[in-house]
Amino acid sequence: MSDEVLLKAFRQHLWPAYTLYYTKPLTIVRGEGSYVWDIEGGKYLDFFGGILVTAAGHGHPKILARIHEQVDRILHTSTLYIHENMVRLAKALAEKAPGGLSTSYFTNSGSEANETAIMLAKMYTGQQDIIVLRNAYSGRTTLTTNLTGNAAWRPLGSEIPGIHHAAAPYCYRCPFKSTYPECGLACAEDVENLIRTTTRQGKIAAFFAEPIQGVGGFVTPPEDYFQAVADIVKRYGGSSSLTRSKRASAGRACIGSASSIGALNRTS
Ligand SMILES: Cc1ncc(COP(=O)(O)O)c(C=O)c1O
Repeated sequence: MSDEVLLKAFRQHLWPAYTLYYTKPLTIVRGEGSYVWDIEGGKYLDFFGGILVTAAGHGHPKILARIHEQVDRILHTSTLYIHENMVRLAKALAEKAPGGLSTSYFTNSGSEANETAIMLAKMYTGQQDIIVLRNAYSGRTTLTTNLTGNAAWRPLGSEIPGIHHAAAPYCYRCPFKSTYPECGLACAEDVENLIRTTTRQGKIAAFFAEPIQGVGGFVTPPEDYFQAVADIVKRYGGSSSLTRSKRASAGRACIGSASSIGALNRTS
């Protein structure tokens, strides 16, 4: 199919919820190392890496060999049976994870991992209220769009009660029009204020945030922000969860997402 025919069929048969970059969207057919090729043979230096997911580049021979090896052996069973690789990965993660984190639950996507984390926090604490951040992106399921603090990625109104959005720790465009460190971490104070004013009897299940907000615009909080928030959260009985451990749980590794960069640099 030519580029134009593909685009027409894409528009006809796929939901408009798929956002395509560029007025003339790219059809990528192949990748190798740091490069990808489009359907017309154009070569691009890939700064995007599938929203940072292809951390080892495209078509790394060792990774491809292991995928082929597994697919040739068996494609799918079920978590009702043990698979050696699942146990080996969980063991390897336990050996690396800090703070006595020794067990894993594997999911298929970031959204599913986030759903699971929230469910776990609610079950563990017996509380319902969750503090999240404005500008956050958490996924495309009902719960994760409600956790998201970015109107462009919230197709419906808030449907799940108990989710409260605190000001983002965004020094470059400070929501308090202040400057770090003179601000006294007003953004962390906002978390406490939200807990005290909007939750059931000042108790929460979790504080939930990306270490570096990706879709939100690569927002890196000041160094002492997370420690300050962790102290507040513990005082109010919650658990803190840094998202995008989700990529690890999906067998990939990265932090933040790069939708706001969108940089594929054509080289030929
Ligand atoms: C921070 C963050 N959380 C959650 C998700 C959702 O992950 P998935 O698309 O695998 O459901 C993304 C995806 O880009 C993300 O960047």
